[in-house]
Amino acid sequence: MKLSEHPVAMPALARIPALVPIDVPAEPPTPVTQPFMPPLEEFVPFLETIWSNRWLTNSGPFHQQLERALEEYLGVPYISLTSNGTTALWLALQAMKVGGEVITTPFTFVATAHALRLVGATPVFVDIDEEDCNLAPAGIEAAVTDRTSAILPVHCFGHPCDTAAISRIADVYELKVIYDAAHAFGVQTGGQSILRQGDLSVLSFHATKVFNTFEGGAIVSPDQRTKSKIDRLRNFGFIDDTVMARASINGKLNELQSAFGLLQLRYIDDLIARRGEISARYHAALADIDGIAPFTIGGGATLNHSYFPILVSEDYPVDADALCRRLQAAGILARRYFHPLICDMPGYRDLPSARQPLPVARRIARQILCLPIHPNLSDSLVDRTIDILSHG
Ligand SMILES: Cc1ncc(COP(=O)(O)O)c(C=O)c1O
Repeated sequence: MKLSEHPVAMPALARIPALVPIDVPAEPPTPVTQPFMPPLEEFVPFLETIWSNRWLTNSGPFHQQLERALEEYLGVPYISLTSNGTTALWLALQAMKVGGEVITTPFTFVATAHALRLVGATPVFVDIDEEDCNLAPAGIEAAVTDRTSAILPVHCFGHPCDTAAISRIADVYELKVIYDAAHAFGVQTGGQSILRQGDLSVLSFHATKVFNTFEGGAIVSPDQRTKSKIDRLRNFGFIDDTVMARASINGKLNELQSAFGLLQLRYIDDLIARRGEISARYHAALADIDGIAPFTIGGGATLNHSYFPILVSEDYPVDADALCRRLQAAGILARRYFHPLICDMPGYRDLPSARQPLPVARRIARQILCLPIHPNLSDSLVDRTIDILSHG
């Protein structure tokens, strides 16, 4: 049947209610993450500006302000905002002309590998390091072939990759390095933003992330030339009103979301600090529970506490899956990030690299569980979560 032949008639506009109320449960479950909402009255002046100047998108004043503010806050040279992190990955890969084979991790969110598929590149999965759950440099080097064009590592859970080793391999084999830094907002090593590593870094500002613009993302570029190229690709490929560099997508962030980002940025240090307190509370309590170990890294990195992953070993009475279900039944919506591995999913599992043993990734995927962590989480809900864990 054609769409136009569908029997349901459109309701008259007059019958559509102005606002359909949404029920908010009195005692909602505890999500694994939740966005911080700044006081609504602080957002009103932003809305008034948008309403009066009628500049809704296409690199408006709030969009420009947010790019500058993020460059300054993160300590990075150039930022290009995008409509989401997946679009940012796609744009970054296009800007670097990535194709052929790209070495990446199986322990990540699907968007990392999907972006490679979307530009026609073949993901080559390599095992991860058991200390930080990021791509293991030795495996990267062993996977390089004459078809390899790039490495796409992920700073998983905001744990910094071994950027020095990755950069050495990239130099030797002349590969591009694009970091999926979706989890790494504000993460620093050696007093510098981790986002300065590689050829490009990609951020996600999805509602579940440490810093959010409802949906959104960004690409960090090292110079103005690269930023301009990405900005053109983000805007259909237009160089100016009539001249087109090449066909591309609409990947722009709008003024409403940019304004929300500017307001979020006022609170971000306090939000990350509150996450740090929750992380410390979990750490202290979990030290007494056999078979459960917080999965955090040592070393001198400044973390953002975007996730609170734990590993559930054979010493614990039940496995990670059963524990996850037990928490969820009690209204604590823990999540198995990242299980299953991407290399075990349809569309990827037939790749030659997906059929390797990948022992560390498979063990960590089996044992992983992410507990709730977000700035609105109360100490009592953290304690309730710990109480369930301590009863096995
Ligand atoms: C590692 C990773 N990469 C990419 C993305 C995609 O970002 P977005 O949801 O903003 O498209 C996400 C999460 O959403 C992610 O966790």
